[in-house]
Amino acid sequence: MAAALVQDYSIEDVHLPAGSLVLVSPFVTQRDARYFPRPLRFDPERWTSRSQSGPPPYAYFPFSGGPRSCLGEHLALDSKCCSSWATIAQRWRLRIVPGYPLELLPLISLRPKYGMRMRPEPR
Ligand code: HEM
Repeated sequence: MAAALVQDYSIEDVHLPAGSLVLVSPFVTQRDARYFPRPLRFDPERWTSRSQSGPPPYAYFPFSGGPRSCLGEHLALDSKCCSSWATIAQRWRLRIVPGYPLELLPLISLRPKYGMRMRPEPR
């Protein structure tokens, strides 16, 4: 996410003049162990109410934050997408096709450059 400052702004000892382009990167934030303990570990529990220390506000911001944040956030999170994946994952294990190239393509959103060709295996 990016925004241009409309006035001078300081964060600790960093001083930014008006017009500066400020970028915030979910890729960086979500790999910061201060906010996401053991960030590279696949740990779905970190998102559940059982988690003792979920990420603090604004550490996870796919829907932006503040007064202009996404109006569809809850619809998106409750959507068919989540329930479809939960249903599929109960019956199938998806594995990347061996040797398939995995490269990141950082645009406005981060995505796999060549997609991810998966092979379903029954559980
Ligand atoms: C995974 C799905 C989605 C993601 C990641 C997403 C993300 C975002 C982001 C990053 C913004 C920009 C907020 C800003 O300007 O700071 C936004 C705005 C917005 N989104 Fe979404 N969105 C999603 C789904 C949806 C859905 C399903 C709807 C409606 C049904 C929706 C409606 C809106 C609207 C109306 C705004 C403009 C809010 C405003 O400017 O006040 N979004 N969304």
